[in-house]
Amino acid sequence: MDIIDIIIKQKNGIDLSDSEIEYLINGYTQGIIPDYQMSAYLMALCFTGANEKVISKMTMCMANSGDILNLSGISGTVVDKHSTGGVGDKTTLVVGPCVAACGGKVAKMSGRGLGYTGGTIDKLESIKNFNTQIPVERFIDIINEIGISIVGQLKNLAPADKKIYSLRDVTGTVDCIPLIASSIMSKKIASGANAIVLDVKYGSGAFMKTYKNAKELAETMIKIGNQNGKKVKALLTDMNEPIGNTVGNSLEVIEAIQTLKGNGPKDFLELCIDISSVMLQLEFVDKSVDECRKMALGSIENGTALNKFRELVFMQDGDVECIDDTNKFPKSKYSLEVKANMSGQITKMDSEKIGKTACLLGAGRQSLNDKINHSAGIFINKKTDSYISKSDVLAVLYTDKKEILDFTKEYYLDSLTIE
Ligand code: URA
Repeated sequence: MDIIDIIIKQKNGIDLSDSEIEYLINGYTQGIIPDYQMSAYLMALCFTGANEKVISKMTMCMANSGDILNLSGISGTVVDKHSTGGVGDKTTLVVGPCVAACGGKVAKMSGRGLGYTGGTIDKLESIKNFNTQIPVERFIDIINEIGISIVGQLKNLAPADKKIYSLRDVTGTVDCIPLIASSIMSKKIASGANAIVLDVKYGSGAFMKTYKNAKELAETMIKIGNQNGKKVKALLTDMNEPIGNTVGNSLEVIEAIQTLKGNGPKDFLELCIDISSVMLQLEFVDKSVDECRKMALGSIENGTALNKFRELVFMQDGDVECIDDTNKFPKSKYSLEVKANMSGQITKMDSEKIGKTACLLGAGRQSLNDKINHSAGIFINKKTDSYISKSDVLAVLYTDKKEILDFTKEYYLDSLTIE
């Protein structure tokens, strides 16, 4: 098979055969096809697109390039949840315990934050001693025992995606629906759950800036999952402002704990109930949406979801005491109030810019090997539609880097449209 023929075929918008896709993905993963030829292929795909059969085959080749987790040792429907990436997105920390408290089985492999979006593993690691790198056998045992476990991705999970994603990052080919869909779904399929809920975000802090593109991405991922024997449901959710009031690891965990205690911000609670109820529908097919919503909300109101979070932290060696006393989370050395420099109404928030502000404060990383500061981040007092007066505190910034405070204050103010 000739890689140049494959590139030309893609350039001319002709669908690749199954064997050509296998040759392309396996050849690139094994180092037989060089970066420059894969880059040419990816760029051609960005312009021509691909049909569902091609995207599905590509996804399976990427999933099969590494280990496929076998979760058959867990009885019943095992459900996974994936967010396409948000700012202040701590939903897994509430949704997972809610679903498990209602009798569901949640097997969640999560990632670390990169760039302006956060990652669940970083958030969980702000709980003292919480172990996100447990062996697969223990992961399965914990799910069988308490209904939920959350761990980092296996080292050998979809290595083809890891290599292709790094190349996309430096060749301007990230922003392409077939490539995003196959990247996400290859990891979800390799993670072994038989049911998947996709939280597909749109807006200023999301990959997909428009609702239309988010819908296309969601539909593509659902089809890939269904063609490969998975039950998949998707929600399209707004990412035009950060979720809840916090951005930054320990701040977000504290907010998730408050939410499990029934004291969370309304927008965040609402999102958690929406996602939990869709997960529960996949678990309990005879229940209506309304019944699933009631079950999810009930688990917060009666304290069982909070107890489930406690069990999760305990089973993964974390410090359970910090749940009852959130003052035990480490504090940043410096904080600064961001005050309004005019009166008016906040009509827009640029979530991506707010995510970048948190990253500059130390909450995120530019490259996967960077160290992060778990206590750095932002507490947001005023969100979209709020009326504000001059000198009102709009947000509080937390960091260990004193020298960055003045700059990040201006950067944060720049993310707001006040009219
Ligand atoms: N997340 C992924 O895992 N892959 C993409 O391509 C985009 C977001």
